Amino acid sequence: MNFTGSNILSVEQFDIDSIQTIFTIADRMQPYARRQKRTKVLDGAILGNLFFEPSTRTRVSFGTAFNLLGGEVRETTGMESSALAKGESLYDTARVLSSYSDVIAMRHPKSGSVAEFAEGSRVPVINGGDGANEHPTQALLDLYTIKKELAYHGHGVDGMHICMMGDLKFGRTVHSLSRLLAMYKDIRFTLISPRELAMPDSVLEVLDQAGHHVTVTDQVSGSSDADIVYQTRIQQERFTTPQEADMYRGKFRLNSEIYTKHYKPNTVIMHPLPRDSRAEANELDNDLNQNPNLAIFRQADNGVLIRMALFALTLGVADQIEKYECDVNWYSEKRTSY
Ligand code: NCD
Repeated sequence: MNFTGSNILSVEQFDIDSIQTIFTIADRMQPYARRQKRTKVLDGAILGNLFFEPSTRTRVSFGTAFNLLGGEVRETTGMESSALAKGESLYDTARVLSSYSDVIAMRHPKSGSVAEFAEGSRVPVINGGDGANEHPTQALLDLYTIKKELAYHGHGVDGMHICMMGDLKFGRTVHSLSRLLAMYKDIRFTLISPRELAMPDSVLEVLDQAGHHVTVTDQVSGSSDADIVYQTRIQQERFTTPQEADMYRGKFRLNSEIYTKHYKPNTVIMHPLPRDSRAEANELDNDLNQNPNLAIFRQADNGVLIRMALFALTLGVADQIEKYECDVNWYSEKRTSY
């Protein structure tokens, strides 16, 4: 895949080689993310960071990644504060904002909206989540995390067993991650959700066609040899009414007791975050915070590396990162998780 000038809209555009290219560059970003070195490779470049749906980590990590490469960030948040609220089309917004930026990261509540926007854009557009459809950069950081965590335990991705749990219908992270994992070999998927929130058929078909072993269930069972448990939040913003979401909140929880009962002692615990910590939901309990297998914060840290790699690739500077290196002048704490 030729990344320079390309949009990143869906995981479908990758193959194993292009994923490996992204991961190799992400590894090279560690000294900058750890503030051991700086690079000014994107000095003068502008990121248009357009988030028309709530976001903390994805939005800030896109911005941080761009800043760490020496670039500037211009941000728009919320639909109501943008001209989309006045009826402007995505095409027009894209034509205008792409003149102001060198690359755009965008999140929007409607499926397919980021691809529609990209048609009007003159610069590369990176999908930061389009409705319940896709979240390709999250899937890449999830897979990068899975590879690292499993390597620590002496395993690879091929042949692993992953349990995905919670809202698999509306959770775009599990859609994109499943499609990405489908490119590997012989994976066991245990998909645990209320029946009404099961993984969409379109994703199950991809897994089936690639020959993976898939179990769809509404019971937390058969997970005792899982390598990864990937918990998700009930996506309340995608339900017609909040009351409907209430029916499913708190149904599939993970806490220390459940983990010990159903999983092996080194099953890696993941969650795209935010976890819903309200008592009625609490899908991933704080009592697991000290468990060394809890990878959620390492996962979030990895998002910066992956987004740095994607910016370097789409803007065609991946071979010049070190050339523009300079020293860090300020006191900086030791960061190890990147
Ligand atoms: C996820 C999202 O927005 O799809 N969050 C994220 O980007 N890390 C998951 C969620 O909101 O539940």
